[in-house]
Amino acid sequence: MEFALSEIQQMVQETAKAFADNELLPIAAEIDKSGQYPASQVQKLAELGFLGVAVQERWGGAGFDNLSYAIAMEEISRGCASTGVIMSVNNSLVCDPIKKFGNDEQKAKWLRPLAQGKRLGCFALSEPGSGSDAAGMRMTAIRDGDDYVVNGTKNWITNGKEADVCILIAHHDPVERHRGISAFIVDRRESPYKIGKVEDKLGIKGSSTTSLVFEDIRVPVANRLGEEGMGFKVAMSTLDGGRIGIAAQALGIARIAFEEALAYSRERSAFGKVIGDFGAIREMLADMATEIDAARLLIWRAAVAKDHGENYGSMSAMAKLYASEMSARVCHKALQIHGGYGYVKEYNAERHVRDARITEIYEGTSEIQRLVIARETQRRFATGKG
Ligand code: CAA
Repeated sequence: MEFALSEIQQMVQETAKAFADNELLPIAAEIDKSGQYPASQVQKLAELGFLGVAVQERWGGAGFDNLSYAIAMEEISRGCASTGVIMSVNNSLVCDPIKKFGNDEQKAKWLRPLAQGKRLGCFALSEPGSGSDAAGMRMTAIRDGDDYVVNGTKNWITNGKEADVCILIAHHDPVERHRGISAFIVDRRESPYKIGKVEDKLGIKGSSTTSLVFEDIRVPVANRLGEEGMGFKVAMSTLDGGRIGIAAQALGIARIAFEEALAYSRERSAFGKVIGDFGAIREMLADMATEIDAARLLIWRAAVAKDHGENYGSMSAMAKLYASEMSARVCHKALQIHGGYGYVKEYNAERHVRDARITEIYEGTSEIQRLVIARETQRRFATGKG
């Protein structure tokens, strides 16, 4: 396995880091406080090509690989976790399935403006009564002539308020379970579904999380993504890629928490020396640094496997499982190193704890990642590849 980054990957890393240092880190606390959507920062992400990192240039993207995407996601999320998830959803949950399953007309109409950042996307799978059990959804999209008529409510939709293109997963045949599910590109300008409840969250406050309400909304058959009945597979394979993005988001949050704790440990004195010279603090810092690097290796392995066209679902589940739980541990330790200052809003440590927490839940909880990993491990064992 090659550990050196290519020139392009290094350029992506440097560009994303400079953007995070100059444009995101200075405003991240304010975004958290106000809950304001970072519109101008998202616009600048678009100008940098970061809303369609792994989309081919002919379809409006930057034309880089998935490792570049993971690298950029880490740096952007280090600067601002809210901006990170806005970017992640547009790239992995919206551009990626259109790139993989869409036809040329669909790519021209939606992928190009999405990758260019002229439009923004969201991904609608979960419902009020179904999250982990994705196939247990109730939303229906029933064929009527040249349209499907959609009814139901989707929940926990990142970018729900701002997005005007939605990847929607719904039952075209409510009797079947996953085989009765299809995927659609819903254009809010043409099929005006409603924005429902806007959630008041613990963290990532600059990104909106809403429900979406569909009441007899007509979606043209031409908007179906893939064949009828393929929607569950579209959703699952989309989430395989999405989990790399969220793992990288978790890694970026852990990194900034670690960097700030390290700096604080060199400034703060107690008992006549800086606290970073105490063994207890050094042990924490050593564990944090090690876990951050371990998570990055898992993320890069999954991204490279995706770039090589390998079956990477279990690798991305491992990357997300480890990176999200690692991020929670690292942010917890970073707060602890700050002592009482870690618990108040004057410092960023408490924000990182809040921002990291969601990475253990969205795009598949840690419990679902363990299920995916265990199934693949058992399958490999049963087929003698274990
Ligand atoms: N790629 C392609 N196909 C897949 C697949 C994958 N990764 N995983 C499963 N499938 C296929 C299977 O092969 C099977 O097809 P066949 O019947 O033809 O063989 C079919 O899908 C059903 O598979 P399962 O029997 O494994 O399905 P299941 O009902 O047991 O569910 C699950 C599997 C892994 C638990 C799945 O439901 C899951 O991932 N749940 C979590 C959902 C999730 O991550 N939600 C997050 C929503 S997005 C979000 O967070 C919002 C946001 O805005 C950020």
